[in-house]
This record gives sequence, structure tokens and C-alpha cells, in this order.
Amino acid sequence: MRLMGRVQRLRENARRWGWPQALQQLAFRALQRMGLHLHCVFRRAHVVAHRPPQELSGLEFRVLRVDELTRWAQDPRYGMAPGFVESALARGDVCVGALENGALLGYTWWSSAPTRDQGDIWVSFSAGDNLGYHGFVLPEHRGRGIYEPLVMSCGESFMRNGIFHTVYFVAIHNVANLRVQDKVGIPRAGIAGYWHAFGRPLTFRSPGARRAGFRFVSAARFRQSSPLP
Ligand SMILES: CC(C)(COP(=O)(O)OP(=O)(O)OC[C@H]1O[C@@H](n2cnc3c(N)ncnc32)[C@H](O)[C@@H]1OP(=O)(O)O)[C@@H](O)C(=O)NCCC(=O)NCCS
Repeated sequence: MRLMGRVQRLRENARRWGWPQALQQLAFRALQRMGLHLHCVFRRAHVVAHRPPQELSGLEFRVLRVDELTRWAQDPRYGMAPGFVESALARGDVCVGALENGALLGYTWWSSAPTRDQGDIWVSFSAGDNLGYHGFVLPEHRGRGIYEPLVMSCGESFMRNGIFHTVYFVAIHNVANLRVQDKVGIPRAGIAGYWHAFGRPLTFRSPGARRAGFRFVSAARFRQSSPLP
């Protein structure tokens, strides 16, 4: 059953992106299962008053309130568990949502503090930047171009708080997300990743990721330089 599901997904991806891209994605996913996590790193300036395209003019893009987040966290379709929302809000993170007639279609989170990626791996970035993370669009609304205005909106509210740039990282196998970056025209700053080998994580980054001020850090190393929040 699981194998059939994977074959079907491979076929769908090949139809959407072509076989070379679909097979490349499969290979990178396999590497991730073997412990090698590779990500493209991006850094861009926040923008003021980004306008969504005409066909999305009926949607509202705005910062979500705590009561809304608490409610939507109860709905498993959105993939943000109550515990996740609680700790993100406690850290001061902000969630921007795409709404249609009051219904949430997608969201993305922003943090100004170091954030945990997975397990013992943390994400660190330059002071004065924020990190865009955990973006999501409901499966039935994917392909409508919702993610682009979602990540480009609300720049003015960050700038008011002295945050002029954002960094984010996209798994190298996440073709859908990488295509959004290409469509917006955001160049890749570099590559960063980590590998869980022999029981401990080995983190690495390219010179471009270093220039963007982005790095993955193991919890142990991070604790040496600054206390974890
Ligand atoms: C990545 C994601 C947020 C993109 O959102 P979106 O609003 O569908 O973005 P777009 O409409 O611009 O489509 C982006 C690409 O997704 C792919 N796509 C289109 N329709 C799709 C569908 N129904 N299902 C899956 N992918 C689809 C296409 O490759 C498209 O690019 P193209 O138009 O150049 O072919 C969304 O796919 C998603 O929620 N994925 C799961 C969570 C995730 O990966 N989050 C990002 C990591 S933080």
C-alpha cells in the first residue's frame, strides 16, 4: 500500500515537473531518510505593500490573532499542533495567514529568535533579520499561487520593528516551494545542511549561506555560545 502510494506520487510529480526533476526529488528524499538534510538558503529584503495578483484579490493576507491560531490549531488539516502554536507564540513568533471569506487557506510563520528545526538541530541567523518558516497551503488550494503573496505580505509590520530582511531555508527536494522562489525571482544565497552520522550531527554551509548569516547548529554547540530559549 505504501509502495503504491509512493509510485502514484512519483507519477504525479513526473506529470507536474517532468521525470528528471521527479527522480531527482526521489533521490534527495532517500538521502534525507539516510540522515542527510540538504537545504537551499534564501535571504531577501522585506517589501512594503505587496499586492497579490488580480485573481487573488478576494483573499485577505494578514497577521493572525492568538484566538484564531488557537482555534485553527485544533484542526488537524492545518498541520500546526496546539503545542507548536503555544511555543511559537511564547517565543514572540508571528503567523501570517491567507483567508477567504474568513476561512484559513494557508499560513506561514516568522521568528526573530533562533528556532528548532528538527530534534537537536537549531537554526541561527543574523540579528536584525527574521526567519520565515513552516509555510503551508491546504492541499485543495495548492497551485493557485497563494504562497507567494503569503510570504511577501506584511513586510511593513516587520520593518516597523526594525527587521528589514528575512532568511529562510527550503529542503532541496521541496520542488513546489523552490518553484515559488523561482517565480518570485529570489536567488539562492547558498546551501546548508546537516548529517546525523555516528550518533552526532555534523552541520555545514556554503560560503553563500555564511554571507547570508544562516547556519544550522547542534543544540550542544548552540548551548556553548548562547543559552537556548
Ligand atoms: C510549498 C507550498 C506552500 C506552495 O504553495 P502553493 O500556494 O500551492 O504555491 P503555488 O500555487 O505557487 O505552486 C507552487 C508549485 O507547486 C506545484 N503544485 C501546483 N499544484 C499543486 C498541487 N495541487 N499539489 C502539489 N503541488 C502543486 C507546482 O509545481 C507549482 O509550481 P508551478 O506553478 O511553477 O508549476 C505548498 O505546496 C505546501 O503547502 N506544501 C506542503 C508544505 C511545505 O512544503 N511547506 C514549505 C516548507 S516550509
